[in-house]
Amino acid sequence: MTQIESVRGATQREAVATGRRFPEAFVWGTATASYQIEGAVAEGGRTPSIWDTFSHTPGKVMNDDTGDIAADHYHRYVEDVALMAELGVNSYRFSVSWSRVIPGGVGALNRAGVDFYSRLVDELLTQGIAPALTLYHWDLPQELQDAGGWTNRDTSYRFADYATALAEALGDRVGFWTTLNEPWCSAFLGYAAGVHAPGHKSGAEALSAAHHLLLGHGLAIQSLRAVLPAGTQLAITLNPAAARPATSSEKDVVACSKVDGLQNRIWLDPLFNGRYPEDVKEFTAEVTDWSFVRDGDLDTISTPIDVLGVNYYNPVVVAHYDGAGTRSQADGHGDGNPWPGCADVQFLDVPGRHTEMGWPVDASGLSELLRRLWTDHRMPMMITENGAAYSDVVEDDGTVHDVDRAQYLREHLEAVHDAITEGIDLRGYYLWSLLDNFEWAYGYSKRFGIVHVDFDDQQRRIKDSGRLYADVVRRNAV
Ligand code: GCO
Repeated sequence: MTQIESVRGATQREAVATGRRFPEAFVWGTATASYQIEGAVAEGGRTPSIWDTFSHTPGKVMNDDTGDIAADHYHRYVEDVALMAELGVNSYRFSVSWSRVIPGGVGALNRAGVDFYSRLVDELLTQGIAPALTLYHWDLPQELQDAGGWTNRDTSYRFADYATALAEALGDRVGFWTTLNEPWCSAFLGYAAGVHAPGHKSGAEALSAAHHLLLGHGLAIQSLRAVLPAGTQLAITLNPAAARPATSSEKDVVACSKVDGLQNRIWLDPLFNGRYPEDVKEFTAEVTDWSFVRDGDLDTISTPIDVLGVNYYNPVVVAHYDGAGTRSQADGHGDGNPWPGCADVQFLDVPGRHTEMGWPVDASGLSELLRRLWTDHRMPMMITENGAAYSDVVEDDGTVHDVDRAQYLREHLEAVHDAITEGIDLRGYYLWSLLDNFEWAYGYSKRFGIVHVDFDDQQRRIKDSGRLYADVVRRNAV
């Protein structure tokens, strides 16, 4: 054996022993959101958000579940941070409940509310876990909704005020800030499909909400920059679609580009190119004249950020719909129409494995998406969410053998590693989710956690997928 051959052999053996390694500074985290885990909805001065109102409206959420108690994280955060330490993660993505820190959404900070997040941040730092804070994960203060919610331009300015106040309170200890989580869901599932709070069914409202969410993001980035120490990382988290046309026919390709327009380019173009896509303005002209866009807004929206947060679960297959037969929708989009101007669009199933949400399992969609985003925008990225719902069985000895979730995880982590190997600037991965939690319109019927939560007694149990993740994090390799 030549020296080179023996070195090569050793490298290969090492690769087998250690798996595919990630960069040294890679961020490994878990993610959650305030309304999905905190509970304590009326404690410490918190006022209702649109999700309190929506979940308490009969028939809106499966089994009429609410976030009143959820995973009781408000009272159990010390235990939950200890679980993260046991898993070995080095970061935690959580969101702040706006109406907990500013009851009613406008005015002075509520000390008791801020103290909760301050204690959480301190606990994380004590355990060596970097806090990653999301300002808005869908729980708009109800009073702001009563004044029009995201269809009211004023909400964008109130959002920036909230960002400033929170940055002043926590900016000395939080190094990663995300403004919005998945504004597509806030706008289109909330204001057009009616399946998320506030439950409206108006394409015109959804497009106005999309613009005011983006404006709020831009204003908040400017506010955060003015207050936070240099080097603080600022981001927005989107859920871009990995959209594939069903066939290469022109009609399917056009249908797919409409979905791409409303779920991807309507966010990415203003953020990174300072303009709205012309085709989207054209095909939505039947519902709105876009007069909510004012001079200067696009400059504000395109204020530079440091990182693009990407949430990925599954790809979608899009086909032309000619009006014959039942139009098929993507799972979770409801019977209201979240796609203004897209009556000629339908979604087809992807054959193969599916999660408990009915979502196809296909990690190649993540690879496609990351490549496309990198090619188009050259932005450093973080996966801010990725994970899977499966129904779990707790064995007599308390173990949970969630083989399917573990497999989903392994496949997607391999795709993440492949992307890095290709040269894409991908800096971290946050698994959705740390805990089983309130899955929006599905209530507690869907479990995304790598830690099982018994919602009767709030006992936590690390699932096999959690052990797998801990092992990946410890080895920094998959
Ligand atoms: C999402 C949300 C999460 C969901 C998760 C599973 O961004 O859609 O961030 O709150 O629970 O995506 O549906």
